[in-house]
Amino acid sequence: MKKISIAIDGPAGAGKSTIAKVLAKRIGCIYIDTGAMYRAVGLYCIQNNIDYYDEKAVNSVISELQIDIYAQDNQQAIYLNGRDISREIRTDEVAAAASKVATYKEVRTALVRQQRQMQSEKSVVMDGRDIGTVVMPDATLKVFLTASVVERAKRRFEEYHNKGVNVTLEELTQEIIERDYQDSNREISPLKKADDAVEIDTTLLGIDEIVDKIMSFIIEH
Ligand code: DC
Repeated sequence: MKKISIAIDGPAGAGKSTIAKVLAKRIGCIYIDTGAMYRAVGLYCIQNNIDYYDEKAVNSVISELQIDIYAQDNQQAIYLNGRDISREIRTDEVAAAASKVATYKEVRTALVRQQRQMQSEKSVVMDGRDIGTVVMPDATLKVFLTASVVERAKRRFEEYHNKGVNVTLEELTQEIIERDYQDSNREISPLKKADDAVEIDTTLLGIDEIVDKIMSFIIEH
């Protein structure tokens, strides 16, 4: 079968990982969550007392990092230097560190190289911020997912509520606004819709409706 690659980009909380996982299962591809890789770098800094606001300090440790991604029952497991960090990276502190280290050129160069390597080996559904614009400009299909800030904050709120995490909707709304700003205004590979991407506003759509839409675009291509 011909190798395919689907790029899914969009801001935090637009539904990228949920959609990418379901889509990958439907078409029998590997799902790669590139945000998890930036989170791995952020986690490493936090756990090793490296000031992640200090670009030079972060650059100097990149070569110490071995990030491995494994597909597990259509989920993704991520390992940092041989240790499974899949759960540890899902905190707000790590998200903020990831968003910061993602502004550094050397971090991006190293991770993009690894992401391209994965694309060259297998059919993939890859989600992130720069997948259609930088990582896989030759993707079979590029999708840009959006949703209103209010809807994205509500989704995150429900997620946290179910996990028993105590946080207000106002705090989450503010956090999303800040992360959108940092991700969209950085100098290198900012969050941006590729010119040839199809845009889907997920605010009022269910998961299956979104995946069906993407499937129809794949068939058209
Ligand atoms: O998708 P996420 O929330 O797990 O991503 C964490 C941070 O990593 C996000 O704030 C921006 C950054 N990121 C990026 O710059 N490029 C990517 N391809 C994926 C994530």
